Amino acid sequence: MTTERAPVGTAPAPVGPLSKIDYSQRIPNNVNLSEDRRLQRALESWQPQFLDWWQTLGPQLPTKDVYLRTAIAVGRDGWAHFDHVPMQEYRWGIFLAPRDLDRRIGFGRHKGDPVWQEVPGQHRAELMRLITVQGDTEPASVEQQRALGRTAPSLYDLRNLFQVNVEEGRHLWAMVYLLHAYFGRDGRNEAEQLLRRHSGDRNTPRILGAFNQATTDWLQFFMFTYFTDRDGKYQLGTLKESAFDPLARTCAFMLKEEAHHMFVGASGVQRTVQRTAELMAAHGSVDLFQYGGIPLDVIQKYLNAQFSVSMDLFGSEQSTNAAAYYTGGLKGRWQEDRRDDDHMLRAAKYPMRTVRGGAIVEDTVPYLTALNLDLRDEYVADCRNGVHRWNQALAAVGLDERLVLPHEGFNRTIGTYAGHWISPTGEVLTSEEWHRKAEAWLPTDEDRERVAKLMVPHYQPGDFAGWIAPPKVGINGQPVEFDYVHLDDEASLEDQACGVRR
Ligand SMILES: [Fe+2]
Ligand SMILES: [Fe+2]
Repeated sequence: MTTERAPVGTAPAPVGPLSKIDYSQRIPNNVNLSEDRRLQRALESWQPQFLDWWQTLGPQLPTKDVYLRTAIAVGRDGWAHFDHVPMQEYRWGIFLAPRDLDRRIGFGRHKGDPVWQEVPGQHRAELMRLITVQGDTEPASVEQQRALGRTAPSLYDLRNLFQVNVEEGRHLWAMVYLLHAYFGRDGRNEAEQLLRRHSGDRNTPRILGAFNQATTDWLQFFMFTYFTDRDGKYQLGTLKESAFDPLARTCAFMLKEEAHHMFVGASGVQRTVQRTAELMAAHGSVDLFQYGGIPLDVIQKYLNAQFSVSMDLFGSEQSTNAAAYYTGGLKGRWQEDRRDDDHMLRAAKYPMRTVRGGAIVEDTVPYLTALNLDLRDEYVADCRNGVHRWNQALAAVGLDERLVLPHEGFNRTIGTYAGHWISPTGEVLTSEEWHRKAEAWLPTDEDRERVAKLMVPHYQPGDFAGWIAPPKVGINGQPVEFDYVHLDDEASLEDQACGVRR
């Protein structure tokens, strides 16, 4: 995985004429916004609604300022600037990767044609739907994570949470820009709806299931940024291939930011497992709650839950919509240009597992209809790498226990496994058998309560909660004990009043 590393470098590099940022604008951008008054007015009238949403449903913990990365350029190096900024003054901007004037469509029936700079009428509805669904996930995760600041295991982690939050806010801007710029009145309506639906709301929920679940604690947050943000990375990877060039360029730049979200998840779970491994080795026990750590079987249950709910985000294994998106050039495969085939897939086949006669069997299906599965298989292989790395923390202290990725059919509500009862190891069970064992596989209310009890805030620079190992290095070359976040006095006072351990 080349994308998972801590952000480095602060100085913006010189950028070419197509990637220049007009930073004098109220909305920083590299799309010549000032030359399109209508679009600028539309975005400027959406901006107060966004800020209002951020105030109401963004991070709850009051802060003075946060050491944040702000996107300021799209050049090859040094695209970001780091500084302490008040979060409500964060410069959410619109940035597209530089335009490649020679870019051609890489797959489907328009393969070889120049990419589109405008939306073709025949694909308008589908493209708007793809952008809306992607856009809906961005503010949803901010809403899901809004309470976490109050229980942050350190200022370092608190800063990483807020970094993810502001960037998901910017990703919302990215999608709203496309809706406003290319879809007229319909696009403006959709952009307003993106702020009207809310995570978990009974009447106006977010579009996708995983984005309506509460993020109850920091272990779940790390699992979310590992498994669910990673689904986002793979979806962006398919849109980056799109024949609709503004969408492709938007997603290419979002992927740069997404790499940090992957890092937060991968390193957050790694540090949790590391502390768990250390406590297991030190006490010769698996019941770690009494020592202030999270037992490995509880970590496994959180992993099972977040992995399975994220697998549902890929949709049905077989999908005629996915085939139409591909053939139409709207959505490609993960790393389309590295695939060694005709990029049309009319006669190609793909293996698909399904449940038949009480067993899991493999069928061969038309590749074109199995593109959701193709993407999901890429994702699963990537997830497996992470689990492998987490297990190194257990091996390092001489333990035999290991975390495992559950079977693809476990706990699924969408696609071929929905309605079947598959164990984490891939056995087909009856509903009764499955439910009898579910407590051992998925977090129970009691598990979540016991984890929640460990989640007391640690707001002193360099101080870390006992359930998680500190990171080896800080952010952007800063020390681990750097003052990444300055809390508002109100928050500090509340914190002291609660007698929080320092
Ligand atoms: Fe995002
Ligand atoms: Fe993300």
